[in-house]
Amino acid sequence: MKVGFLGFGEVASTLSGWFKDAGVEVYTSLENRSVKTQVLAEDCGVNTCKDNKTLAEISDILISAVTPAEAVNVAREVGKHVKGIYVDVNNISPGTAKEALGYIENGKTVDAAIIGGIKKEGIQVQIVASGSYAEQFSSLNQYGLNIKVISPDLGKAKTLKMLRSSYTKGVSALLFESLYLAYQMGLDEEFMKCLESTECPGFRESTLSRVKNSAYHAERKSQEMEEVLKFIEDYSKLELTDEDECLSMIKATGEFFKYISNKIELDEKPNYKELFESFKSKN
Ligand SMILES: NC(=O)c1ccc[n+]([C@@H]2O[C@H](COP(=O)([O-])OP(=O)(O)OC[C@H]3O[C@@H](n4cnc5c(N)ncnc54)[C@H](OP(=O)(O)O)[C@@H]3O)[C@@H](O)[C@H]2O)c1
Repeated sequence: MKVGFLGFGEVASTLSGWFKDAGVEVYTSLENRSVKTQVLAEDCGVNTCKDNKTLAEISDILISAVTPAEAVNVAREVGKHVKGIYVDVNNISPGTAKEALGYIENGKTVDAAIIGGIKKEGIQVQIVASGSYAEQFSSLNQYGLNIKVISPDLGKAKTLKMLRSSYTKGVSALLFESLYLAYQMGLDEEFMKCLESTECPGFRESTLSRVKNSAYHAERKSQEMEEVLKFIEDYSKLELTDEDECLSMIKATGEFFKYISNKIELDEKPNYKELFESFKSKN
C-alpha cells in the first residue's frame, strides 16, 4: 500500500509516522516547498517524488492536506494523473470541495474531514468521510486510523466540519477576547478561576490551548473561517431568507480571525501572557 501526501505539514507528518510504523509506504513531493516542510519531511524519513504529478501516479491513496486556500489549485494540478483514490481532508466548504474534486478525472474521490486537532489526538483523531469511495478509504482503519463513513454522498463530511468549525472557532474567539480584556484589567487569574468553578473539568487547559492556537494558527484558521462563510453564503442562497439577522456570530468570528492573522505571526507558541503583551504592543 502506497499512501501519498500532497502537502507535508502537521497532518501529513503526524499520520505518516503511524503509517510507517504499520508498514505502509509513505510518499510526498518537496518540489516548491518551504524549508520548514522540507525539514519536517526529512525528519520523518518519508519517500519523495520529484513532483506532485508523479506522486499522484504512484499513490494508491493520495491525501490532500495542503492549506484551505490551496486545495483547489493542487487538485487542478494533479487531476489528470491520479490513479488511485483521492482524499481531500482540507478544511474547505462543500462547494470548494466539489470544485476541487471535480478536477480528479478518474472520479475516485473522497470528501473527508478531521474532527479535532491531529497533534493532540494522534492516530485516534476522528476522520469523517463521505462519497462512494469512502468505504475504500476507511480500509486505512486496519493501520489504526479512526475513519467513520457517514454518507455515500460527497459533501456531507465537509458540511459536518463547517458546522463544527463555526462552533469551535466562535468559542475560541470569545475566550481570546474575554481573557485578553481580563488580562488588561489585571483580572485574568480571577477570571479563569471564576469560569473554572462553573465550567467542565479541564476547562483551564482547553481555554489556554484555544487561545494559543488561535494566534499560532491564525492564518490557517482565518482561511478556514473564509470557507465557513462561503458555506453559509451558498446555503443561504438556497434556504435562508434573512442571512444577516441569523448569522452575525459566525460572521464576527470570521472577522476576528482575519484581524488576528493580520496582527500576529508566531514561530512558536508563547504562553498567553507573552502573547497578550505582544498583541498589545501591536495595537
Ligand atoms: N492540523 C490539524 O489538526 C487539522 C485538523 C483538521 C483539518 N486540518 C486541515 O488539513 C489541512 C492541512 O493542515 P496542516 O495542519 O497539516 O497544515 P500545515 O501544517 O500548515 O501544512 C500545510 C502543508 O501544505 C503545503 N502546501 C501548501 N500549498 C501546497 C501545494 N500547492 N502543493 C503541495 N503542498 C502545499 C505546505 O508547504 P509549505 O510549507 O511549502 O507552504 C505545508 O507543507 C488544512 O487544510 C487544514 O485546514 C488540519
